[in-house]
Amino acid sequence: MSNNRVSKNNRVSKNKLRGIAKGPLTPSPSPCNKRQLKQYILSVGSKTRRTCAQCGMSYLVNSPSDVKLHDKFHRICVDGRDWNMRLGEPLESISQNEAIYKVDSSRQYECIGALEMLDIVNKELNAPDDNDFWTSGDSNGSVYVYVRNKVAVGIVSVERFNTNPGHGKKGYWFSVEDGRVVSPQPLDILCGISRIYVCRRYRRHGIAIKLLHAVQRHLIYGLVIPSLKIAWSQPSTSGGQLAMRFNGRMHKSGKVLIPVYT
Ligand SMILES: CC(C)(COP(=O)(O)OP(=O)(O)OC[C@H]1O[C@@H](n2cnc3c(N)ncnc32)[C@H](O)[C@@H]1OP(=O)(O)O)[C@@H](O)C(=O)NCCC(=O)NCCS
Ligand SMILES: [Zn+2]
Repeated sequence: MSNNRVSKNNRVSKNKLRGIAKGPLTPSPSPCNKRQLKQYILSVGSKTRRTCAQCGMSYLVNSPSDVKLHDKFHRICVDGRDWNMRLGEPLESISQNEAIYKVDSSRQYECIGALEMLDIVNKELNAPDDNDFWTSGDSNGSVYVYVRNKVAVGIVSVERFNTNPGHGKKGYWFSVEDGRVVSPQPLDILCGISRIYVCRRYRRHGIAIKLLHAVQRHLIYGLVIPSLKIAWSQPSTSGGQLAMRFNGRMHKSGKVLIPVYT
């Protein structure tokens, strides 16, 4: 039985994904904390380890399997993942060659593609492997991809929260500048951005903002979610900047606050 299948409860086997960065490959610490990546080459005995200046991955240059894994990681991280599959109607058409799609969790290749991309995000951010909540149904959340010329160059996964009184998740105001929650007063939130990622070549072109607008318009049928009902999960440095732009509010202290959830 192939690892690539969608199992009964629609979850794609995680074994399929482990191949991306198994073994000695270790992505360097989150790029969010480092402005400029440098290339390092370290030789110990017959082994030469290189850290890629573009994707930040460290690998053994004289190991063919390492080189192959780096190539795959690098391609997705920098240029995006091939999304050359039959797709339904886009949620949003951006231009003739660009559109945002919802990932259909009942379709194997879409699921695998999205999980591969989310796995890359985890590696870049050193985030935990908790990406598959949306594969068990829309009530838990959804994933949207930004596809350009049949390549997925951006992705967002969003968790939906129970809105029954007393059962929903609470959000809190968070100061991006101070990196901490500033008010114990809980906020009512409807959903949370679990991961958001734009491939390096396409950053600062408004793709993440378009994905967030798609979340607002399409996550809950018949409702455009007010931006303050969308919270962030442990924003990275660039994620914090994006959040401040998307749903930051100026506090009387002069600091910009964003809604976060845990
Ligand atoms: C965060 C991330 C998704 C932003 O994607 P993006 O498509 O480049 O973002 P956008 O172009 O839509 O940015 C919209 C606005 O957000 C702010 N912003 C986004 N990234 C920023 C950055 N690195 N530095 C400063 N401001 C930033 C800016 O105000 C920007 O508007 P501008 O370009 O007109 O100044 C992308 O940098 C990324 O994938 N980072 C690595 C993964 C990550 O950290 N994810 C967030 C986890 S919470
Ligand atoms: Zn690389």
